[in-house]
Amino acid sequence: MFAISFEHDTLHYLDQRFLPLKEVIVATRDYRRAVEAIKTLAIRGAPLIGIAAGYAVVLAARQFKGKKKKFSAFLSKAIGEIEASRPTAVNLFFATSRLKHVVERNLASCDISELLFKLEQEARAIHNEEIENCEQIAQHGVKVLKQEFSHVLLYQRLTVLTHCNTGALATGGIGTAFGVIKRAYEAGLIEKVYAAETRPLLQGLRLTAFELEKEQIPFEVISDSSAAFLMQKSLIDFVITGADRIAANGDTANKIGTYSHAVSAAVHQRKFYIAAPVSTIDFSISDGSKIPIERRSSLELTRIYGRNVAKESLPVLNFAFDVTPNQFISAIITDKGVLKPNFTDAIADLAPEQIKPYHDA
Ligand code: MRU
Repeated sequence: MFAISFEHDTLHYLDQRFLPLKEVIVATRDYRRAVEAIKTLAIRGAPLIGIAAGYAVVLAARQFKGKKKKFSAFLSKAIGEIEASRPTAVNLFFATSRLKHVVERNLASCDISELLFKLEQEARAIHNEEIENCEQIAQHGVKVLKQEFSHVLLYQRLTVLTHCNTGALATGGIGTAFGVIKRAYEAGLIEKVYAAETRPLLQGLRLTAFELEKEQIPFEVISDSSAAFLMQKSLIDFVITGADRIAANGDTANKIGTYSHAVSAAVHQRKFYIAAPVSTIDFSISDGSKIPIERRSSLELTRIYGRNVAKESLPVLNFAFDVTPNQFISAIITDKGVLKPNFTDAIADLAPEQIKPYHDA
């Protein structure tokens, strides 16, 4: 499924706000349009936000007109605007830091056109890595399911609950949690997916259902509040979601409602997995209390598809994400392998990978 591309100095993206009713592809050479797309969730999902942020830096660099000595200041300002678009998904900052690094290392020795080439190369590398990360996550995820459900899989396939959207639309690849589900379904491990609708912006109902339908994977959409009841009725074998930022102790920020599913899974002794690339781990944050949680407009609750369903003046509290404490997580499935509790040690062992993610661009 098409989510994003960068061709002929132009960013192309599918505007996800109109899905599944309309497939609108936008083409732009203006980094501010890309920033707006991230802010408004036309482009969304942690890895895709990172990919888009990388290309937005390339667009900004291409929009620079002036003498080389002013390039760095111009780009820093543009990167500041890109970084201010959404605060929670750390992939955004992972991408901008990689592109900043390219400028720092090459500014003295390269002219502007060489810098533009190197920046684009790095942005493409981020994009390609995220595609490959999804495949790796899926492979690890299938292994985990085969191991942890070997007894169940002898006589039946599994049912799974997922939240928000973690497929191609959120990653550019086959998806994180969605990629695990897709490959596990192909391997004959999955019977059915329950897709939580994901209030208020309905990423589950609009996007995950759209992707599941395209992949011909059997599913039912459920309201977010039905998950505990379905677990009580033994209809859900395990839960798997993506992540927007994982702290160094494994506490995980993901779409609001994820924590409720984790609590329900714990109460009903169901496995609760997070699937995310290492680029979603924030090694600089000791625990989930330090993760910045985005609060969004009250209109996301009081309006549906632009139509008021309540008074606009209602007092509304709209957190876009919540943090699932590590003790509720059975495993974090990454592209570099499966992390099990104690997550602090498992994540610390990955840190060297994180310290040298930069290409010799
Ligand atoms: O607000 P969104 O739609 O960007 O939130 C997305 C999520 O919470 C996803 O679950 C997360 O980014 C993982 S994407 C593979």
